[in-house]
Amino acid sequence: MKFGNLTIKNGASLAPMAGLTDATLRTMAANYGATYIISEMVSAKALSFGDKKSAALCKHTSVEGVPYGIQLFGSEPAIMAQAAAFVMKYKPDFIDINMGCPAPKITNNGCGSALMKNPPLCGELVKAVVEAVDIPVTIKIRKGFDDSSLTALEVAKRAEAAGAAAVTLHARTREQMYRPPVDYTSIAALKQAVSIPVIGNGDITTVEEALSVVEQTGCDQVMVGRGALGRPWFFSQLAAAFNGQPIPAEPTLKEKMCIMQKHVYDMCNDKGEAQAMRECRTQVAWYMHGLQGAARLRGLTSSLTYYTDIEELAQLVLKLNS
Ligand SMILES: Cc1cc2nc3c(=O)[nH]c(=O)nc-3n(C[C@H](O)[C@H](O)[C@H](O)COP(=O)(O)O)c2cc1C
Repeated sequence: MKFGNLTIKNGASLAPMAGLTDATLRTMAANYGATYIISEMVSAKALSFGDKKSAALCKHTSVEGVPYGIQLFGSEPAIMAQAAAFVMKYKPDFIDINMGCPAPKITNNGCGSALMKNPPLCGELVKAVVEAVDIPVTIKIRKGFDDSSLTALEVAKRAEAAGAAAVTLHARTREQMYRPPVDYTSIAALKQAVSIPVIGNGDITTVEEALSVVEQTGCDQVMVGRGALGRPWFFSQLAAAFNGQPIPAEPTLKEKMCIMQKHVYDMCNDKGEAQAMRECRTQVAWYMHGLQGAARLRGLTSSLTYYTDIEELAQLVLKLNS
C-alpha cells in the first residue's frame, strides 16, 4: 500500500487515540510491527494560538520504516493549512485530518465528525492542507453523522478529488459513538467508490477478525485502536498474519508485566514521573484485563503515583495469577 510516495508495509496501523497514543505508545507499537503511527488529534486552532500543550502532542516519533502522521482537527481551511505548515517542524511523514471524532466539545464547533454533514467543506479542507504541505494528506472518517446522513462515500470522493492520499473509515456513524454494530459493508462500498487506499477500522481485536475484515471488504489494510491497548505485541501478530508468517505466541504473564513496566518507564522518561504516573493509569488498567483479581488490580492502578508502584503492581499480578 502507498500513501502518495510513502510505502506502507503489510500489517495493521495504530489508530490515533487522544490521551493514549502518545510518543511512548506510538514507538512501542511501531517496534512491534505497526505499519504506521499517528499522533493524538491536535487542534489546528490551538496551534494557531501558540498553545504549547497542543504542540507537545506532535512530538516526532521515529522508527525506521514506520511512517509517522500528525492528525489535525479543525473546520477552517485556512487555519488547517497554517497548522499543517506549522507542524512540519516535527517532521511528520504525512498529515491526517480528523473527520470522525464524536465528542460534543469537538462536534459543537463543527469539527471532527460534524464535518461528515458537510462534504464540500471536507473537500476544501483537504485541498487547503494538500496545498500547504508537500507530504501526503489522509483523512479519517465515519460512515456519516447519523443514519439519515450516510456521507462517507461522498466525503471520500471529494477528498480524493482534492488530493487525499488515503482514507480510513471507522465504520460507525457519529450517532453510534462507540456502540455496536460496526458496519463492515460500508468499508466494502467505500473500496468500490475510490481509487486511493482504504483502511478499515472498528472493533478489530483478533488476528482472525483482522484477516476477515480485509477479506470481506477488500480494504487495503486495517487500523487497530482499543484492540491493542494493554497488548502492543498484537501488532507483531497482525504483521505476521498479513505477511503469511507463523503468528508469534502470546507473551507469558511475566513477559507481559515486563512490557507494561517498560511502557511506564518510557513514559516517565518522556514526560517526567509525576505526569507519566497520572497518565499511565488508563493504559495500565488495560494490561489488567482478564487477570485474576482484575477488579482489585484496576482499583490499585487508579492510585499509581511513583514508578516503584508499577513494580509492586506487577509483583502482585504475578502473585495473584500464579
Ligand atoms: C479513547 C479514544 C480516543 C480516541 N481519539 C481519537 C483521535 O484522537 N483521533 C481519531 O481519529 N480517532 C480517535 N479515536 C477513534 C479511534 O481512532 C478508532 O477509530 C476507534 O476507536 C475504533 O477503532 P477500534 O475499535 O480499533 O478502537 C479514539 C478512540 C478512543 C477509544
